[in-house]
Amino acid sequence: MTKSAPRRILVTSALPYINGVKHLGNLAGSMLPADVYSRFQRLRGHDVLYICATDEHGTPAELAAQAANVPVRQYVDEQHEIQKKAGEDFLLSYDHFGRSCSEENAALTQHFAHVLEANGLIEERTMRQVYSIDDERFLPDRYVEGTCPHCEFEKARGDQCDNCGRLLDPVDLINPYSAVSGSRNVEVRETRHLFLLQSQMQERIQAWIEASTDWPPLARSIALKWLDEGLRDRAITRDLSWGVPVTNPDGSIREGFETKVFYVWFDAPIEYIAATEEWAKAKGEPEAWRRWWRTDEGADKVDYVQFMGKDNVAFHTVGFPVTILGSQEPWKLVDRLKAFNWVTWYGGKFSTSNKRGVFMDQALDLLPADYWRWYLTANAPEGSDAAFTWEGFQSSINSDLANVLGNFVNRITKYCASKFDGKVPEGGEAGEAESWMVAELETRLPQLVQHYENMDFRKAAAETRAIWAAGNEYLTKAEPWVKYKNDVDAAAVGVRAGLNLAALFGIIAQPIIPEAAAMILDALGAPEDRRTLSEEAFADIPALLDALPRGHEISPPDVLFRKIEDDQVAEWTERFGGES
Ligand code: MF3
Ligand code: ZN
Repeated sequence: MTKSAPRRILVTSALPYINGVKHLGNLAGSMLPADVYSRFQRLRGHDVLYICATDEHGTPAELAAQAANVPVRQYVDEQHEIQKKAGEDFLLSYDHFGRSCSEENAALTQHFAHVLEANGLIEERTMRQVYSIDDERFLPDRYVEGTCPHCEFEKARGDQCDNCGRLLDPVDLINPYSAVSGSRNVEVRETRHLFLLQSQMQERIQAWIEASTDWPPLARSIALKWLDEGLRDRAITRDLSWGVPVTNPDGSIREGFETKVFYVWFDAPIEYIAATEEWAKAKGEPEAWRRWWRTDEGADKVDYVQFMGKDNVAFHTVGFPVTILGSQEPWKLVDRLKAFNWVTWYGGKFSTSNKRGVFMDQALDLLPADYWRWYLTANAPEGSDAAFTWEGFQSSINSDLANVLGNFVNRITKYCASKFDGKVPEGGEAGEAESWMVAELETRLPQLVQHYENMDFRKAAAETRAIWAAGNEYLTKAEPWVKYKNDVDAAAVGVRAGLNLAALFGIIAQPIIPEAAAMILDALGAPEDRRTLSEEAFADIPALLDALPRGHEISPPDVLFRKIEDDQVAEWTERFGGES
């Protein structure tokens, strides 16, 4: 078989907003699958660049800093470190975890605004906005509340009424008040902003999305729905001090924009590119980002995949592509976009104040990252929303990880240690049971690869588990412990195949549960260069059952997975909420 050339794959996950550590639902719908996919593609032998960052600008950051009584700069510095650590502790294998408040992002955001304006896609318009005299700030979108002009609901948000569902313009609210302070001392004022003329890009965006037939269905259907409603021009600046300054091409501040900055949703996706620049600089090759993003400098050969929750799809299929395409410069556009539904907490919302749900840092105080990674991948909210329940979590961990995988590895390594001196045994010939196992692997391994290529994470986890389960069935058929009594050679075949299967199970587990996988592979002394999912590694499947050198020493691993006990579930339900 000829070795196919490595692909270059750029992976980004939606940038987590800066105001606090994310909950498990946020993790499951963006960063975790991006990491699992990146790990998988690296193990396939491809050249992967996984970029993420914190999304640090905007009103919520300013208000959160105010609430914490610290300067916004200090607030974002602290929160960035906290989120970065939470990601690392969750074993997210970013190549770079950047910051949207970087100099690189400011420069690039300003650059895009300049070229878009030169291309006739940005214009200044006067608009009317609610101004809070007591808060001394304009109140955009959801920062103003009041009575809905349609249904008279008294707590309608400025951008949408939660009662009748209608989209609103904040200035149309009756009896408006500040959602920041509750003050009713508000008035409508005129303010000038830059508008991105998205309506002019309708056809180009439409053509691009219609051509993107290989996107997973959820992202594509959301994108088409937005197009159907027609693209609307939108303000890309805000009256705010925390953000990217609005400049002229010569670098001076634009007249009339001294107290304004770009809207956070304008600069945040640009940070995907800027964070790649940050990565390149950090490794001392300041131009290395260009081959990932400039299609005139090699990025036309890159596969670019984005991961995000469904609420982010419009910004990635319309907002950001308008920036990219409207610039008329050779920037890389996303090739495939994978969107997720919500993980719910027992069917409802995660909420810190109501003690419902677990956040990333809390989760790791309870159990190692792999446990969460497994459950959240095996139950990824792909076809529909997926409810987190402690009961579901417990049964998935106890059955899939502890019983199916953990027991297999323990049983076979311990048996080898006690009867074969801890060495991969010699002797015997493969027979019927081994042929059965080979046939299983011959169908299942290619399916596993296909599920990952399709970004079907539930199916990938289910197939991984099915392969582990087949291994247990194999041992039941091979029965080395029974055969040992009369025919040590026959037992040797089963133990040898079993140890090799344990190694294979560790290898295929790596994208989802990297830590446990490494423990398994270390215990079996699997050489580093064999820990891959490359095409060559799977080319000769019968050989996989006899891959570890005979005579090679192994050692049973420490306990791989501890079962989750009922009293733990009871305690966690009490602390974080559960069936109410
Ligand atoms: N911070 C946004 C959110 O939490 C996502 C930003 S994605 C980006 O929904 F592309 F705009 F950066
Ligand atoms: Zn209403």
